[in-house]
Amino acid sequence: MKPRVLITGGAGFIGVNAAHRWLARGWRVSVLDDLSRKGTDTNIAWLKRQGKVDFTRADLRDAKAAERWVGARRDGLELVLHLAAQVAVTTSVEDPRSDFERNALASLNVLEAVRKSGKKPFTLYASTNKVYGGMERVKVALRAGRWSYVGLPQGVSEAEPIDFHSPYGCSKGAADQYFRDYWRIYGLPTVVFRQSCIYGPHQQGNEDQGWLAHFMKMALAGKGVTVYGDGRQVRDALFVDDLVDAFETAHRRKAKASGRIYNVGGGPRSTLSLRELLAWIAKRQGRPLPTKWGAWRPGDQKVYISDIRHIKKELGWAPRVGVSEGLERLWSWLER
Ligand SMILES: NC(=O)c1ccc[n+]([C@@H]2O[C@H](COP(=O)([O-])OP(=O)(O)OC[C@H]3O[C@@H](n4cnc5c(N)ncnc54)[C@H](O)[C@@H]3O)[C@@H](O)[C@H]2O)c1
Repeated sequence: MKPRVLITGGAGFIGVNAAHRWLARGWRVSVLDDLSRKGTDTNIAWLKRQGKVDFTRADLRDAKAAERWVGARRDGLELVLHLAAQVAVTTSVEDPRSDFERNALASLNVLEAVRKSGKKPFTLYASTNKVYGGMERVKVALRAGRWSYVGLPQGVSEAEPIDFHSPYGCSKGAADQYFRDYWRIYGLPTVVFRQSCIYGPHQQGNEDQGWLAHFMKMALAGKGVTVYGDGRQVRDALFVDDLVDAFETAHRRKAKASGRIYNVGGGPRSTLSLRELLAWIAKRQGRPLPTKWGAWRPGDQKVYISDIRHIKKELGWAPRVGVSEGLERLWSWLER
């Protein structure tokens, strides 16, 4: 019997990329999504053209729906990727209850559904660097027109204390800790990936989330963007294929990865500031992207760069796609 992967949020950006990978591996791929994110109907239509996908439209805030979905797919159940979430900090500030329900409550529903299934699939949670909050202790300085850490050449490691900032930070952070704890308390083989900025094809970027895709989309549509803050904020960027490689690696090495938390991002070698992206687009398109400037947004870190040495050392994973190649690949996909 073919193994089965369950992917929540499987019509979202990372979800369709992951589903596509496991389809190519010949697995049975079951996807659940409520299609609440704009553009996910296009994503799921594309995915269905790639192979046989078992798609369920349901809302994970409903514990019974989660249980029914997992319970009916117990046979061959090998892997669960929990990617469904409300993903924007801004939206979480406007409506913290809905954010809590979609991120914290829905995640508990997924864990409970898996626990009650009586199976022990390897279960991955897509967490976020936002669990580290503003890291006010960590000194930052402007160097060469971009923010950088004063004393963290390798970036932020998992030893950084968690300090949830923003409702999104709180709801994702709560789920992050529940996933880790289900390993300790119930022996469910879970792993938590604290992801930084992920980018690539099928990203429905907008002003609130997915800035790389958003800036490029606006440029290609002949429109402008608003930059909040000074535009010198820096992120490490990870191309989505590399992230899906990391999912696969963690599953392959599940004996080692279970119960672990890993920071997963492009690392110090793959960083980009907003202004650098504006410059890249201006060069690529031959004209500047019209830009307005706004105040800093809550929870926005001046710099965030993942220290990815832990996952590299333990699982042997490292990113392969550099920023210039990744940007070009995303641009070509958006231009298609
Ligand atoms: N993209 C990034 O840069 C990034 C960075 C850090 C963490 N993450 C995390 O990775 C995961 C995937 O992110 P993404 O970029 O693919 O986002 P996405 O918005 O494209 O995908 C999330 C999907 O979840 C679905 N969803 C939301 N609430 C749901 C619910 N209650 N029930 C069922 N489906 C629901 C949405 O419709 C959407 O398709 C999220 O958990 C996100 O927090 C993403």
